[in-house]
Amino acid sequence: MTDTAKLEIDGKVHELKIITGSEGERGIDIASLRADTGCITLDPAYKNTGSCLSNITFIDGEKGILRYRGYPIEQLAEQSSFLEVAYLLIHDDLPTRDQYEEWSEALRYHTMLHEDLRALFAAFPKNAHPMAVSAAVVSALSTFYTEDLDPTDERQVMNSIERLVAKFPTIIAYSHKHSLGQPFLYPDNRLGYVANFLRMMFGTPCEEFHVDPVVERAINVLLILHADHEQNCSTSTVRLVGSSRANLFASTAAGIHALWGPRHGGANQSVIEMLESIADEGLSARQFVDRAKDKNDTSRLMGFGHRVYRNFDPRATIIKKAADDVLGKLGVTTKLLEIAVELAEIALSDEYFISRKLYPNVDFYSGIIFKALGIPVASFTTMFAMGRLPGWIAQWRELVIEDQAIGRPRQIYVGPSMRDFVSIDQRKA
Ligand code: SDX
Repeated sequence: MTDTAKLEIDGKVHELKIITGSEGERGIDIASLRADTGCITLDPAYKNTGSCLSNITFIDGEKGILRYRGYPIEQLAEQSSFLEVAYLLIHDDLPTRDQYEEWSEALRYHTMLHEDLRALFAAFPKNAHPMAVSAAVVSALSTFYTEDLDPTDERQVMNSIERLVAKFPTIIAYSHKHSLGQPFLYPDNRLGYVANFLRMMFGTPCEEFHVDPVVERAINVLLILHADHEQNCSTSTVRLVGSSRANLFASTAAGIHALWGPRHGGANQSVIEMLESIADEGLSARQFVDRAKDKNDTSRLMGFGHRVYRNFDPRATIIKKAADDVLGKLGVTTKLLEIAVELAEIALSDEYFISRKLYPNVDFYSGIIFKALGIPVASFTTMFAMGRLPGWIAQWRELVIEDQAIGRPRQIYVGPSMRDFVSIDQRKA
């Protein structure tokens, strides 16, 4: 295969280098295009633009393949734990037993929030969205750990990483507790990462809390499935903010905001709201699918479609299986799962969805399982954020270590040409 591409502009031929990735992906290097030709490339929404070389996550959207640092998502979901996967993403490889102990111990040490940070939660209305509260508290961490904010100092970065990973479940649990008006529980560091989170989320100071191992395992799997997804919207946001050398807390807070939107991580909440409204309005699955196809109707089949996966999202397959399994083990029957399965069956055999290659994505079934596990709908997207945190960190770190230049796309200006200022009394209505 050739390693250069030829581009002809105004009769002159320019050679451009083709970069090939370790899995055979190819990209045309256009870094010198403007200097050589005066042209830029135009790609709104970056549908066809590679923003970096990365050795973290590989996706083959046509074949439905997802791997973190070479390990298939199916194996990680079945055999690993979230903390192990977090280590893999952040530290480049799976930990040895000693490294794992050291990592868990470091995280245990940082699970508490500064007492003054607890007061920040009280400043928010009870109905504040947990994503808004979590982003604000993560941003506020940068005001408490000012001595560790230099992205180029490895020791400071490691301190910030450990604090952020350790405190994130506490922040999410408190953002939920605040909405209920219930007391915040201090972390119990005898428990593992997920069990500790579940206790802070659902426990009260008056009663002992027993962690259901089925729930603990299911949450581990869900977090693993969300842990990274190369250059998605929130991760690209984290990288772009980080490219200005903003600190890790500030960059992560930006990522949380980007994830919140219903076209991205917020879709897990929207899916449940969609399923509930179908049930409440007594619509048939077919009626809703017809609405989602209608360009004059704003309804979309939430949890369907993906920029990269054009065949199936391997995470959706794993989550569907886990949902069947967990619902069975917990003895939960849910009308919502029935509606979701019916919607998927109809959409997957409908010409509109087939021709546009729209399949269930990670968010389609995750809300159903989160709901069955007792996670409140408003907190679904914070669960996604908790899972995605190691991915954001790994990607931010990769960018900083490689000293990538500040991200700064260009544009093609299509506004008015130069015109002279007109004073206000001479302007026409
Ligand atoms: C995540 O990028 C990642 O990796 C994200 C993620 C991660 O792990 O980080 O995987 C997590 O964000 C999953 C996606 C969650 N969002 C949703 O489920 C919301 C519903 N889906 C969409 O809005 C949409 O499919 C996107 C945002 C996911 C993808 O958008 P694209 O790539 O810009 O595709 P598009 O909107 O241009 O759609 C192409 C066509 C259009 O029709 P035409 O104009 O060509 O006729 O498909 C249609 C769209 O109208 N379409 C849908 C649809 N999704 C796309 N029609 C009905 N229902 C849908 N869900």
